[in-house]
Amino acid sequence: MKYRRLGNSGLKVSELSFGSWVTFGNQIDDKTADRLMTTAYDAGINFFDNAEAYAGGRSEEVMGRILASKQWPRETWCVSSKVFWGGDQPNQTGLSRKHVFEACHAALRRLQVEYLDLYFCHRPDPDTPIEETVAAMSDLIRQGKILYWGTSEWSAAEIMAAHAAAERVGGYRPTMEQPQYNLFERHKMEEDYSRIFADYGLGTTVWSPLASGKLTGKYLSGTPEDTRISLEGLEWLKARFEGQDFEKELTKIRRLSGLANDLGMTMPRLAIAWCLKNPNVSTVILGASKVSQLEENLLASDDTEKLSCEVLETIDSILA
Ligand SMILES: NC(=O)c1ccc[n+]([C@@H]2O[C@H](COP(=O)([O-])OP(=O)(O)OC[C@H]3O[C@@H](n4cnc5c(N)ncnc54)[C@H](OP(=O)(O)O)[C@@H]3O)[C@@H](O)[C@H]2O)c1
Repeated sequence: MKYRRLGNSGLKVSELSFGSWVTFGNQIDDKTADRLMTTAYDAGINFFDNAEAYAGGRSEEVMGRILASKQWPRETWCVSSKVFWGGDQPNQTGLSRKHVFEACHAALRRLQVEYLDLYFCHRPDPDTPIEETVAAMSDLIRQGKILYWGTSEWSAAEIMAAHAAAERVGGYRPTMEQPQYNLFERHKMEEDYSRIFADYGLGTTVWSPLASGKLTGKYLSGTPEDTRISLEGLEWLKARFEGQDFEKELTKIRRLSGLANDLGMTMPRLAIAWCLKNPNVSTVILGASKVSQLEENLLASDDTEKLSCEVLETIDSILA
């Protein structure tokens, strides 16, 4: 495993990390979750991603029980949570001081840890002044309850506003952002954030490197039965695996799979290695419902050297 700095912070994160969205407390049983975390940790993964919203808090409970049952020294792993979607009540959502504090305390309890290494604002909140959120995050840092705070799916302008607010309130600037990044979703990482990377050294923990499994190639000959898009509650995701746009994506995936084959790797490995080629990526968060998937995806680290400039150009021409 290779490790990268989280932006311009001193924290080193494994270039591949592991997250529990959809899977923990929902799609898979706790025993499989344990085996996945163990496989990840044994491979050198040192960052586990979670959120208050995942499976209504059950994802953090499952991860917390697993972490508590291991003898892994606390300094060998990092864990995150994200605040935004905590429930149906008006003050169970958003980024007010009240919800940021209460969500943090609840995540600490569920994950059974004294502090969160990374704490993300899961989305921007237009109903809360940015100064209020920055001050709340900064207070949590001063109280030792979180070490670094960041954003997820914020625009460059919103992140810049947080930097300016930190200056005004004497608070901490956001260290990292968690955007979607994969062969089909490139705008934020490759365009929107360019100036923040250059001026502030923003760290990134990028999500859905396989576009929820689309980029594995397993949907090329119909929809397999046992995947996340058949799960109740994910109908919105299933809709992205249907229709004309999806047919166009399949044409590209077919060609990309051929390229992966020529390079001696599988389609998921190509898609993940491609993310790792971007130097502004601090870590690529992997997701898996089976240990065999995770084992395969972990091989992507070694595939990056096969992605020469020429190969990257071929990929761009397929995606154009
Ligand atoms: N901040 C945010 O808003 C946000 C949003 C989404 C995710 N995230 C984070 O990013 C993490 C990763 O996202 P993701 O789970 O969407 O990642 P992904 O890599 O795009 O999708 C992972 C899913 O693809 C399938 N898969 C993975 N490897 C495979 C393989 N080798 N062969 C066949 N199928 C394979 C599995 O689903 P099936 O077995 O069901 O097919 C697996 O659960 C999440 O756990 C979460 O921590 C953050």
